Parts: sequence; C-alpha cells; structure tokens
Amino acid sequence: MRALVTGGAGFLGSHLCERLLKDGHEVICLDNFFSGKRQNVKHLVPNPNFELIRHDVVEPILLEVDRIFHLACPASPVHYQYNPVKTIKTSVMGTINMLGLAKRVRARILLTSTSEVYGDPEQHPQTESYWGHVNPIGVRSCYDEGKRVAECLMMDYHRQNNIDIRIVRIFNTYGPRMAINDGRVVSNFCVAALRGENLEIFGDGEQTRAFAYVDDMIDALVRMMNQEQHIGPINIGNPDEFTIKELAKLAIDLARSSSKVVIKPARPDDPVRRRPNIELAKKVLGWQPTTPLIVGLQKSLDHFRDELGIKEA
Ligand SMILES: NC(=O)c1ccc[n+]([C@@H]2O[C@H](COP(=O)([O-])OP(=O)(O)OC[C@H]3O[C@@H](n4cnc5c(N)ncnc54)[C@H](O)[C@@H]3O)[C@@H](O)[C@H]2O)c1
Repeated sequence: MRALVTGGAGFLGSHLCERLLKDGHEVICLDNFFSGKRQNVKHLVPNPNFELIRHDVVEPILLEVDRIFHLACPASPVHYQYNPVKTIKTSVMGTINMLGLAKRVRARILLTSTSEVYGDPEQHPQTESYWGHVNPIGVRSCYDEGKRVAECLMMDYHRQNNIDIRIVRIFNTYGPRMAINDGRVVSNFCVAALRGENLEIFGDGEQTRAFAYVDDMIDALVRMMNQEQHIGPINIGNPDEFTIKELAKLAIDLARSSSKVVIKPARPDDPVRRRPNIELAKKVLGWQPTTPLIVGLQKSLDHFRDELGIKEA
C-alpha cells in the first residue's frame, strides 16, 4: 500500500511514518513544518520507500495513494493559538482538500480528531456518543471547533460521496519527539524537571488527565485504519487518570530533580477532568494501552535529556 501521512514530520506523524515503513508500506510524508521538523524524519529519508514533501494542506494536492492518515494540524495550545485563523483553516480547508483527494483516488482516509471535541465535559468518562460541552467563542475554539467541523466533513463526505472514512478521537498522548517548546504538560514538566526549574501548575493541580504513550497510540491508529467493522469516531487514549500534581511529582522523582512545584492561576477553558472510555476501541480494535505512565515518562525524559544535551545524573 502507498500511504500519505499529513503532518508526518510532527510528533505522532513521525512515529506513524516509521511504523508504516516497518510494516512494508510506501510512505509519503507531507508537512509544512509549522510545528513539526525535518529532524523528526531525517533518519527515514534514505529509505527508498519514503518520500518527504513540503506542502500546506490548506492548498489542494494530487497524489496517487491508497491510504490517507490525516494528522496535519498543530496540537498544542501554544502552537494552535499562535495563529488561530490559520489553525481553523488547516482543520477545515485541510480536511476538505484531503477528502477531495480521497474521493479522486478512492483512498481510505483516517482523521485524527481529538478529545477536545468534548470540551469541558459534563460526562465522565467520555463515551463517543457524548456531544460535548465546547465554548464556541473561546481561545481554544479554533482547535476544538476546527476538529468538530473536520469530523462533520468526514461524515458528510462519507454519507454524500461514499468515502471510506475512519475517525479517531485522540486523548493526551506523550512520548519521545514531543517538541521542547510544545507547551503541553508532559513536555513542560519533563523539561523543567531536567533543567532543575520550577514545575508550574495552573489551577489547584487536582484537574485530571489520562496520558497515552505514543507507541500504544500509533498501534491503535494502524488497527483503526486496517479494520472494516467501524468508521468511528472511536476514542483512543489511556483511561488511567492522574492529577496534574501526581504527574509533577512523578516527573521530579524520575528525573531525580531538585525542582519545586509552583501554583499559578487556572487557564481559561482548561477542562477539569478528561478521561476516555475506550470500551469501543477494545471491542472493535482489540486494543488497549500497555505502557504504564512510569515507563513512558522515563522514555520521554531520556528523549528530552538528549535534546537538551543534559547528561544523566
Ligand atoms: N498529541 C496529542 O496528544 C493529540 C491529542 C489529540 C489529537 N491529536 C491530533 O493528532 C495530530 C498530530 O498531533 P501531534 O501531537 O503529532 O502534533 P504536532 O504539532 O507535532 O504535529 C502536527 C504536524 O502537522 C503539521 N502541520 C500543521 N499545520 C499544517 C498544514 N497547514 N499543512 C501541513 N502540515 C501542517 C505540523 O508541522 C506538524 O508536523 C493532530 O491532528 C492533532 O490534532 C494529538
């Protein structure tokens, strides 16, 4: 199979390209390098089955492919709020362009949607049938509403044009190749702990998140694409819930750091709880996460240590 991975030079995309090549596929990696970087896929460039294209998904492109993994979209608030209009354009126009491509070449297309479509949820844990509680005019709406429209487009192209679609809703994922300046909590805590700087908690630290390790996530994306049973949306994430305080303590302990935790004012529209119900993924994909937080966090710290050029204590 020839697979297109949009956003392929990003955190998840680069791991996905690696996995698809390992599975014996040809891979076209397409990226505008907004939040991704060449470095993430540099080691794949010599592989004759790999091709890297600099392209912005807001513009149409014609390629001959069998599968489209549509990931292109900045995922961290720091990145997606940098140019919110561009973020929503990427989600909406990018998804239209990729669906147009899927239609022309009759490719199956998978969208990486997000748990952010649930907003600040009133239902715990969130099942796929929950419609969400999103602020449509807040500073996160460019991302949240962008993904909601992207899901809508996927469903409408499916109903109207019979496009073969798959939708996954990804919950917080972490691991090696997250950008140092990514601004999400795992990278912030790892980098601060390694540098011996304060770990900043916004709000009281009792807000919970559930963290999935990147290898588990990539396995789920591949399984979702390869199965015939369900088009989604399907939640993919790790249902083990941790408070932000617990995460901070673990990062400090594993890094054997002298860093301290400091409390800052809560951020607007920051969800209080976020935990996936993954029963559907278990049933349809035969999948569940296998990497414990302590193992994944250690691997992430090793990555950030390399990136920062810090020797292990
Ligand atoms: N990592 C997570 O926890 C998480 C959670 C939910 C959803 N997701 C989704 O997974 C996908 C990948 O996220 P990630 O964590 O790897 O983020 P990332 O920022 O590392 O990757 C996104 C990639 O898309 C590229 N990109 C952005 N705009 C583009 C455009 N207009 N044209 C072409 N390329 C563009 C970026 O340069 C980057 O390489 C995104 O769609 C994101 O919404 C991720």
